[in-house]
Amino acid sequence: MKKRVFSGIQPTGNIHIGNYLGAIKRWVSMQANYDNIFCIVDLHAITVLQDPKVLKAKIRELTGLYLAAGIDENKSIVFLQSHIHEHSQLAWIMNCFIPMGWMQRMTQFKEKSAKQKETVSTGLFDYPALMAADILLYKTDVVPVGEDQKQHVELARDAAQRFNNIYGETFVLPEPLIAEVGARIMGLDDPTKKMSKSENAPNHAIGLLDTPDVIRKKIMRATTDSQTTVIFDTTRPGIYNLLTIYQTLTGENKKDIEAKFEGKGYGDFKKALAEVVIESLRPLQERYKELTADPGHIDAILKSGADKARPLAEKTLAEVKKRIGLG
Ligand code: AMP
Ligand code: TRP
Repeated sequence: MKKRVFSGIQPTGNIHIGNYLGAIKRWVSMQANYDNIFCIVDLHAITVLQDPKVLKAKIRELTGLYLAAGIDENKSIVFLQSHIHEHSQLAWIMNCFIPMGWMQRMTQFKEKSAKQKETVSTGLFDYPALMAADILLYKTDVVPVGEDQKQHVELARDAAQRFNNIYGETFVLPEPLIAEVGARIMGLDDPTKKMSKSENAPNHAIGLLDTPDVIRKKIMRATTDSQTTVIFDTTRPGIYNLLTIYQTLTGENKKDIEAKFEGKGYGDFKKALAEVVIESLRPLQERYKELTADPGHIDAILKSGADKARPLAEKTLAEVKKRIGLG
C-alpha cells in the first residue's frame, strides 16, 4: 500500500515561486509514489480578514495553479477545505486536546501577530488545531511542506500522540517532509526575509503568473552584494538565494552550476536565471490559461474531489467521536 500524503496552501495573496519550489513542484514529483490529497485551505485563509469576491477568485486561481503545475485530479484528490465539514468539527475536538503552552510556542503566530497587534483573531492563534485536523482526518503519513510549516506538522503529530495515549490508537502519526534545497526561498528585495505571499513590495516575489518581462525585471533588480563571483556562499544571501532557485529549477548540482558561471559576473548569471525561470513557468502558464478559460471546469473538479475526500473524513470523525463518547 502506498503512503498517504496530505498538503495544502491558503488561497490568499500571490502564489510565488517559493510556494512552487517549496511545495507544489515537489507534490507533483512525488505524485506517482504516494496516495495524495491536496487541499485548498480556505478556512485557514479567513484567519485574517478577506474580501469575499477576492477569496472566491483566489480559490479558483489556486486550484488552477495546482492543476497547471501537474497535479492530476485523476491521480490525486484535489478539494476545498470548507466543502468538508469534518475539518471544522475535528479542529474543535483537537482544540480540546492541544495545551495552550504548545500553541504559544508557534513561531509563525508570534511573527504574524506582532504585525497585527490587538486586531489579531483567535482563529490565527488556533490555526494549528485546524491544520492538525486536516492532516489527521486522512490518516496522513507524510506532509510535504516548506520549512516554515515544520513546527505545525510536529504539533499535529504531538496532538495525535496525546489523543492516542488517552483513547487508544486512533490517529496515524504524520511526518513533515522538507526538501533539502528550495524549502526556504528568500525575498528578492531582501534575501534575509522569507519570500512571502503577504508581502506587497513590487520586487519581493516572482509570481507564478508573472509575464516574462516582469520576471526579467525582478531578477535583474534582485538585491545582491558588491562581490562578483557566482558561487554558493551562505554569507552572501542574495546570490545564494538566486543560485538556489536556479538549482531547484534545473536540477543541476552546485559544482556544475558554479563551473558554468566561472569567470562571469552577477549580471550574466541573473540573465541566465531569468530565462530558466521564464522557460520553467511557460508550460504551467499555458496550461493555466486553458484550464481556467471555463471556471465551471475548476468548480467541477473541486466538487468531485470533495466527493472522494468526504467518506474518508467521515470515517475518521465517526471513530474519534466514538472514542471520546460524543453523541
Ligand atoms: P503559504 O504561502 O504560507 O500558504 O505556504 C504554502 C506552502 O508553500 C507551504 O508548504 C509553505 O511551507 C511553502 N512556502 C511558503 N513560502 C515559502 C518559501 N519562501 N520558500 C519555500 N517554501 C515556501
Ligand atoms: N498552514 C499551511 C500554510 O500556511 C497550509 C496548510 C493548512 C497545510 N493545512 C495544512 C499544509 C495541512 C499541510 C498540511 O502553508
